[in-house]
Amino acid sequence: MPNALRAMREVKAEGGWGVVCTEYCSTDPGSDNHPHPFCTLWDETDQHVMAGLADAIHRQGALAGVELWMAGYSSRNNLTRTPPVAAMSMPTKYAPLQTRHMDKADLRALRQSHRAAALRARAAEMDIVYVYASHGNLPLQFLSPVQNRRTDEYGGSFENRARLMRELLEDTHDAVGDRCAVALRFAVSTLDADIGIAAEGEGRDLVEYLAELPDLWDVNIGGYPTDTRTARFAEEGAQEAHVDFVKTVTTKPVVTVGRYTSPDLMAARVRKGKTDFIGAARPSIADPFLPRKIAEGRIEDIRECIGCNICVMSDAQGVPIRCTQNPTMGEEYTRGWHPEHIAPRDTQIAPAVTGAVEFDILLVGGGPAGLEAARASAQRGYRVALAEAGTALGGRALREARLAGLSSFGRVADWRIGQIAKMPNVEVFFDSRLTPEDILEFGAPHVCIATGASWRTDGTGRSSFAAVEGIGAAPILSPDAIMDGAAPSGKVVLYDDDHFYLASALAETLVTRGARVTFVTGADIVSPLCVPTLEQPAILRRMLSLGIEIVTSHRLVRVTERMVECVHIWSGETRRIDCDHIAPVTSREPEAHLYRTLRDAPHRLSDGGIIDLRRIGDCDAPGLIAHAVYAGHHYARTLTVRDTVRRDRSALQPSNQPAPGPDR
Ligand SMILES: Cc1cc2nc3c(=O)[nH]c(=O)nc-3n(C[C@H](O)[C@H](O)[C@H](O)COP(=O)(O)O)c2cc1C
Ligand code: SF4
Repeated sequence: MPNALRAMREVKAEGGWGVVCTEYCSTDPGSDNHPHPFCTLWDETDQHVMAGLADAIHRQGALAGVELWMAGYSSRNNLTRTPPVAAMSMPTKYAPLQTRHMDKADLRALRQSHRAAALRARAAEMDIVYVYASHGNLPLQFLSPVQNRRTDEYGGSFENRARLMRELLEDTHDAVGDRCAVALRFAVSTLDADIGIAAEGEGRDLVEYLAELPDLWDVNIGGYPTDTRTARFAEEGAQEAHVDFVKTVTTKPVVTVGRYTSPDLMAARVRKGKTDFIGAARPSIADPFLPRKIAEGRIEDIRECIGCNICVMSDAQGVPIRCTQNPTMGEEYTRGWHPEHIAPRDTQIAPAVTGAVEFDILLVGGGPAGLEAARASAQRGYRVALAEAGTALGGRALREARLAGLSSFGRVADWRIGQIAKMPNVEVFFDSRLTPEDILEFGAPHVCIATGASWRTDGTGRSSFAAVEGIGAAPILSPDAIMDGAAPSGKVVLYDDDHFYLASALAETLVTRGARVTFVTGADIVSPLCVPTLEQPAILRRMLSLGIEIVTSHRLVRVTERMVECVHIWSGETRRIDCDHIAPVTSREPEAHLYRTLRDAPHRLSDGGIIDLRRIGDCDAPGLIAHAVYAGHHYARTLTVRDTVRRDRSALQPSNQPAPGPDR
């Protein structure tokens, strides 16, 4: 997606980041991660794409970096079908395929392709060229005493295992000369896969050994599940204990990451000499303008990352990145959206509104969708009334934030409430559970229903589309009741037929409130939909550490007064589990009654001066908080214009042009 990525990165550069880097960039067809997204510097076409990116980043006054990637055993090579290579012949990480043990010719070819890619990066006017020895990639595999059992000069002693990394740095310096800086991204500790690299051991040895060779040290810990931990499992700055030694070992500048969103914390780290630069993946996704806001003293305008890893999940799916906090992320090219600017209302032709009205838009429901719709519509200049049935704004973001580990979800509400508070054209009405009559009388020409959804208590979910037999026989604890503070004693059977993060957070919360929990799920693993957010192993670890009993591959079929009956999905065997309460976490019921009543009375709508009635967010189709925020933003953007989606498309080759290949 060269156009989408270029537009996204240009926005980050505009937002004030000093350096904007590419994602992992393959040096040759031996490192191919299709269908996951990565960039390539294999040939002149790639160089042309890269030059366009560098140009866009430079246009906004930032430097451009490219991360040259050689995968080794973590390569899939689904597209290229090239046998993957590694320090030794070993099973690849993701495919039913083994690597080839690299011989001297392979090593020479690999260095050659790295050098050629560095030359292309230089020709494309990139400013920083990375050697990438993090996230389990090839140079790190060579360093590992576990993954490298070679007996030649690339194996055995520490110096031998570090040889490839040193050579790649030297080759890259040699290729780019003094035109580009050469950076090393290095995982000083590989905590989630013990391959013998630790900050107290050979991680530190490596930094000492190569101390002055890179122009920039970019250090982290890894692989991905540790480096990119969610807020539930890692605080801001969670990598500091591992990476802070680096500055004491080298005189070269150092960049560190750690989901940094607090300017004071960032400044303190630089002032104390712990790091020279703050690196950011997720904070720059949630707010591409974070640095500019710091520079302008607009700290309260920073839209802080909530650490949910929806960005990681979408990235792995091969679509432009999606973000819970930033609905414009990934839409810079596709829809032409900018995170800070939005077309004023007067630039679009609005349908005629008759009579004088106090508000242009009545938004019903102050959850993530309603809040974002109100904020973005008001930013466009519309006069917005936001009616909230309760006494606080935030809806499900606020409620989920009360659960163990999810407090950062409150940022979704906090940022929007803070922005709305500064807008004279938004008025919030609390304690306003509106009836259809209230809405018809209100007189706003645009009405948007964002009334959310509530968790079902009858057991309908992924594996059962009908209510579970006898579900009311045992006291039911709905997810909503737990979020509202229910603290049952005794034994709770929590039945997860939702399969995402919420059930595990509810289970953890119940344990902290004194319940004994048995977690039953029809899935074969706990929280399978959290695999793409990288959380699943950490969730399992936490549940085990809390003493939660786990029953997988079981579907709930019947409930009696003090017992649930489940059936093993694959064997069909029945299992009975005692319980004092049952907590079904299965699916949600859209709160769509208000919308439907209005929709079904079109004449009353037109009599009431309503020209546009819509529903958005969970009351439309329950989903992620990210879906709801996006729906709210989309509402504001498309109030009076049609939505258009632009895609990156490669042109068809002319039919008389031969396919590229050795026969040409
Ligand atoms: C969507 C996404 C994609 C990422 N892709 C890469 C990548 O291609 N190369 C890399 O070295 N790190 C990648 N990372 C990891 C980040 O560079 C960073 O080390 C990690 O997320 C921790 O920093 P943060 O807390 O600022 O997000 C990615 C992170 C995210 C969230
Ligand atoms: S999706 Fe979540 S973790 Fe990723 S940047 Fe956005 S708020 Fe942060």
